[in-house]
Amino acid sequence: MSDSEIVPPATDPRSAPATAPKTAPATAPKTAPATAPKTAPATAPEKAGSAPALPQEALEIASGYAFSGPALDLGALLWDGQCLPDVQIRIPLPMLNRHGLVAGATGTGKTKTLQLIAEQLSAQGVPVFLADIKGDVSGVSAPGVSNDRVQERARDVHQEWTPAGCPAEFYALGGMGHGIPVRATITSFGPVLLSKVLQLNQTQEQSLGLIFHYADQKGLELVDLKDLRAVVAFLTSDEGKQELKGIGGLSTATAGVILRSLAAFEAQGMSPFFGEPEFDTGELLRTASEGRGVVSVLELPEVQDKPQLFSTFLMWLLADLFHDLPEVGDADRPKLVFFFDEAHLLFDDASKAFLDSITQTVRLIRSKGVGVFFVTQTPKDVPADVLGQLGNRVQHALRAFTPDDQKPLKATVKTFPHSGYDLEEVLTGLGIGEAVVTVLSEKGAPTPVAVTRLRAPRSLMGPVDAGVLDQAVKGSPLYGRYAQAVDRESAYEKLTAREAASQAAPAPSKGRPEQDRHEESMVEQVVGSGLFKSLARSVGTQIGREITRSLFGTARRRR
Ligand SMILES: Nc1ncnc2c1ncn2[C@@H]1O[C@H](COP(=O)(O)OP(=O)(O)OP(=O)(O)O)[C@@H](O)[C@H]1O
Ligand SMILES: [Mg+2]
Repeated sequence: MSDSEIVPPATDPRSAPATAPKTAPATAPKTAPATAPKTAPATAPEKAGSAPALPQEALEIASGYAFSGPALDLGALLWDGQCLPDVQIRIPLPMLNRHGLVAGATGTGKTKTLQLIAEQLSAQGVPVFLADIKGDVSGVSAPGVSNDRVQERARDVHQEWTPAGCPAEFYALGGMGHGIPVRATITSFGPVLLSKVLQLNQTQEQSLGLIFHYADQKGLELVDLKDLRAVVAFLTSDEGKQELKGIGGLSTATAGVILRSLAAFEAQGMSPFFGEPEFDTGELLRTASEGRGVVSVLELPEVQDKPQLFSTFLMWLLADLFHDLPEVGDADRPKLVFFFDEAHLLFDDASKAFLDSITQTVRLIRSKGVGVFFVTQTPKDVPADVLGQLGNRVQHALRAFTPDDQKPLKATVKTFPHSGYDLEEVLTGLGIGEAVVTVLSEKGAPTPVAVTRLRAPRSLMGPVDAGVLDQAVKGSPLYGRYAQAVDRESAYEKLTAREAASQAAPAPSKGRPEQDRHEESMVEQVVGSGLFKSLARSVGTQIGREITRSLFGTARRRR
């Protein structure tokens, strides 16, 4: 209802005015006239007639942010410790697919910045994906609560603050937590991402790639972890040795290591994340009935202790979107903006192949209309090749208490375009909810560095109640589609069922053995029997397809 108050003004009143000193005050027509005089005179060092004059440098910055088309409002310029609300700092909407970085020390306002950008995107009809690691982002769905600090900030930056929540959908990996379950099949997840979660080394990663290739060629459906385990178990068995040789480049020893990692991985409770129904990433591209973009929040607090898992899953979502989306070039607005919180987790201990794939995905997904924002503590957490592609920067305060802190600080400063600021000093002195900003102009050139006091999000800062979340989840039309895990017949089930039938032994006839250990011995038994080989062939001819894998080795889904 109140979105219109903040959005439409972004489209027109800021085209020219800020370029000329006299007209600068006119850049803030959205502010209530009553609030303007209060703040403006105090911030302006001099007056020219009735209009407060801005320092020359501030005017130059203002002209760098005077866009003619739709833009998102970040906040107002801070100059000499004063907030200059006449100089509004913003990001042009079409530049949101040119990616971004939100960085800063803990507690400096990164999450609120993400929320601020997300809610304006939603209001402009752009769907957003947010990874909520600490569980403090669900409030994006509910109207915010006014208080003195919010009111003061709004006054400072000339924001007409009214509370508003966004249409939101909540997801949870493997259904762990409050959200619609997100699962991936092993086939779709692919060998590169799986190696990352299994923390395999490069040789093992390559070997897993060969195993996937083998399964793909044979048409073996790797739906869940036990399917993959059955295939690897077969390849390491006496019966499977010939097949293993045929694969070439895959040693029994390495296959054995992979088998053990898989077993350990399952023992850590990782099975619920893999299987069917697989999440269709197309769900992330929806808009609500009133035209606002849906904010999809992936609730991750329950899997906080599994950073490898969730960071890799985030990459899977992105890689999957990449497969499915058509090229759109540079459109007038992004199709989706994807916020990658705690991004360092993605890059830590990543193999070269993995890093290359991230770099390539980030580079190419832009022309499919998807913007990616990494949220992390310092730009140093992001590899240079990726960092170089992040056109929009919101850098919150960095701490420099110890000599060790100096290095990341200096490195951060180097990542910014040249400016009149002493950024080392500025970055250590910023307050909460303040940041050093540079974005891409409508022409795609970096805007002047601007120290900015950010606007306050209009949605709730903090989580909504678990009960409210659960209600939203159960009330979602997607709930019926994804809530229940389905263990359809795939490689493992076919094997166990066929084996049981052929032996007519007192072994379980179909479905899943109850005990894990029992299950393992059964797989060994089955795949060692020779039945697997013939099954592999027959399945292969039945399906008769080889899966096409692209970036990250993820597979194109069959929708
Ligand atoms: N733009 C803003 N408007 C109003 N308040 C803000 C803003 N940014 C930050 N704050 C205040 O600062 C607090 C901390 O911000 P936030 O949670 O975004 O920090 P963070 O950098 O994400 O921290 P962490 O690294 O611990 O996740 C918020 O709870 C809020 O009270
Ligand atoms: Mg945060």
